[in-house]
Amino acid sequence: MINLIFFCLITGFALGLDVHQSHSDLIMDSGKKVQIFCTHEKTDFWIMLWYQRSPADTVLKLIGHVNTNDVTMEDKNDKNVKISGDLSGNTAKNTSLIIDAVEQKHTAVYYCAAREAH
Ligand SMILES: *[C@@H]1O[C@H](CO)[C@@H](O)[C@H](O)[C@H]1NC(C)=O
Repeated sequence: MINLIFFCLITGFALGLDVHQSHSDLIMDSGKKVQIFCTHEKTDFWIMLWYQRSPADTVLKLIGHVNTNDVTMEDKNDKNVKISGDLSGNTAKNTSLIIDAVEQKHTAVYYCAAREAH
């Protein structure tokens, strides 16, 4: 069993902004696919970041981010982990973290964060 926990957080000048994540706690069987969405309605926030904190770690590790319509992954070794989404356009923002086949190493707390572009 692999336990994935999700949180949303907001950085920048975003008082009153709600960021929603589609699941808060998932227990998965190894090998299953998982896709978690992170959404908010601040239409001029062009960046969403996804972080992972593994049980043994005290720091948040940046998995990758979406800037407008461009996805950047920090760790290109784990091909099973992807971020998808397009933040361009003046609509509500929606990105997702996809793990094609969860493994024990994916047991972690995941955070998504929304930010204005700089
Ligand atoms: C986010 O996008 C997915 C499709 O990629 C859709 O199923 C989901 O409903 C969207 N979430 C919101 C809150 O719009």
